Amino acid sequence: MESSFTTSPNKASHLVLLLLCLSFISICNAEISSKLGVNYGQLGNNLPSPSHSIKLIESLKLGRVKLYDANPEILEPLSKTHLQVSIMVPNELIPNISSSQSASDTWVCSNLLPFYNKTRIRNLLVGNEILSDYSNKQLWYDLVPAMRRIKQSLTTHNIKNVKVGTTLAMDALQTTDPPSNATFRPDISDSVMKPLLKFVSETRSYYFVNVYTYFAWAANPNKTKLDYALLRRTGLTYTDPGSGLTYNNLLDQLLDSIYSAMGSIGYSDIRITIAETGWPSKGDFDQIGANIYNAAIYNRNLARKMATKPPLGTPARPGRVIPTFIFALYNENEKGGPGTERNWGLLYPNGSRVYEADLTGKKSDSSYGPLPNPTNNVPYRGRIWCVAGAGKVNATALGLALSYACGEGNGTCESIQRGRECYLPNDLVSHASYAFNSYWQQFRRVGGTCFFNGLAVQTTKDPSYGSCKFPSQYN
Ligand SMILES: *[C@@H]1O[C@H](CO)[C@@H](O)[C@H](O)[C@H]1NC(C)=O
Ligand SMILES: *[C@@H]1O[C@H](CO)[C@@H](O)[C@H](O)[C@H]1NC(C)=O
Ligand SMILES: *[C@@H]1O[C@H](CO)[C@@H](O)[C@H](O)[C@H]1NC(C)=O
Ligand SMILES: *[C@@H]1O[C@H](CO)[C@@H](O)[C@H](O)[C@H]1NC(C)=O
Ligand SMILES: *[C@@H]1O[C@H](CO)[C@@H](O)[C@H](O)[C@H]1NC(C)=O
Ligand SMILES: *[C@@H]1O[C@H](CO)[C@@H](O)[C@H](O)[C@H]1NC(C)=O
Ligand SMILES: *[C@@H]1O[C@H](CO)[C@@H](O)[C@H](O)[C@H]1NC(C)=O
Repeated sequence: MESSFTTSPNKASHLVLLLLCLSFISICNAEISSKLGVNYGQLGNNLPSPSHSIKLIESLKLGRVKLYDANPEILEPLSKTHLQVSIMVPNELIPNISSSQSASDTWVCSNLLPFYNKTRIRNLLVGNEILSDYSNKQLWYDLVPAMRRIKQSLTTHNIKNVKVGTTLAMDALQTTDPPSNATFRPDISDSVMKPLLKFVSETRSYYFVNVYTYFAWAANPNKTKLDYALLRRTGLTYTDPGSGLTYNNLLDQLLDSIYSAMGSIGYSDIRITIAETGWPSKGDFDQIGANIYNAAIYNRNLARKMATKPPLGTPARPGRVIPTFIFALYNENEKGGPGTERNWGLLYPNGSRVYEADLTGKKSDSSYGPLPNPTNNVPYRGRIWCVAGAGKVNATALGLALSYACGEGNGTCESIQRGRECYLPNDLVSHASYAFNSYWQQFRRVGGTCFFNGLAVQTTKDPSYGSCKFPSQYN
């Protein structure tokens, strides 16, 4: 029998090797934030090249990067870095992959294998927020079969260190209040979430969630305190009446809701990765709390929370490591929707920082310079209009947008018809302004946005003139 005090030479050399590896890992950890990464979205027409972007990610001292595709022009330069990489199978490929192993093999062969031995690809995410899209519910049922096929393709190539997952939004949950009572939506709980969590559990993968305290707070700013959403330690707490657990920030509440929902259908041991989180630095007049001040505070606090050793986890899962990807690297000017959508970036497209934030989480609040005072942390009270943006415009595009706006609404463009009160001045920009405003006033309550591919902007200055009145209700 071997004594535990003696070690064979063979084992000793393993031990030396292990120690070498450990010291190598700790050297790396000293320089970068190994659990924190960033989402490198590319929906902008003014973004730096992939190799320059990668240098910027490294200069932010991040350890991970997540892509929304498997762009070889990004994966190639990533091979020269230590960054861990997450890639994505686009939503539109899910139907084919779910029904065909060869479609899955083809995707893996052409997108992952060429980089597998050089780029540190660690997560392969099949689809993004599939369960939030009610326009194509077939995709919901194709999701897990597609994930299984992708996993099978990896197994065929003996690839074991790439986790297969899918990113879900918080709307997979029916309720989050209180966290201990959270459940998945009944329309997906049995049909999608059970098989999904079974797969995640079997493959020791993660529940990848896009989680934004910003949206939870902004939807109901009277219910939640801003500081609580910004992860500020101001002594605010909430005690869950079901679990008795006490919370000091909204992010932990949302994460524990997911753990509860998973537990409610029999999976209480699955790990979470935060696939997206962040705070917008700018938004439209009718959007609350999107400013540089809040964005800086949130991301600084997030980095500090994630860098704490030993790991904090959450009240329901203390000590758990939660890999986290900030959304996003850049402000992306080609994203549609409200103004916030184009202002999630840590960086402007020219590569300069929108605000100072030490993403290794080491810097204290007091050692930062001053931030611009927030002016929109309370709802805007007043009237807002939507008009054609100033500056040089593409007349063809503006004409198409004008026709669209006139076609959608109810009497949207009557006032700009020949002889009516807003006909003169008879020019494209004036008519487009009237039409954009008229459209937006009719549809803003149901999610219509004042954007028109960047041709429209909100204004608080009444564009009415003479007898031409631009409608607007008080906000
Ligand atoms: C799905 O497969 C069909 C048949 O092979 C092919 O024609 C189609 O282009 C594929 N769809 C996508 C999105 O690749
Ligand atoms: C990776 O490299 C190893 C060793 O060179 C090789 O056996 C393996 O086939 C390669 N894998 C892929 C997916 O290229
Ligand atoms: C939120 O609180 C403010 C100030 O206390 C109040 O004026 C406003 O009506 C409240 N809004 C809602 C939606 O309850
Ligand atoms: C949890 O949900 C159940 C069923 O909806 C409800 O009866 C109960 O009051 C909730 N518990 C708490 C603490 O809100
Ligand atoms: C980068 O862009 C931002 C926003 O447009 C601007 O404020 C800043 O001055 C620019 N920085 C440089 C170095 O050009
Ligand atoms: C102007 O807009 C039209 C319609 O969207 C587009 O086809 C065209 O390429 C644009 N022209 C320029 C110069 O951007
Ligand atoms: C359109 O507007 C007119 C006049 O304001 C109103 O009577 C009518 O009900 C509206 N129709 C629709 C479909 O909203």
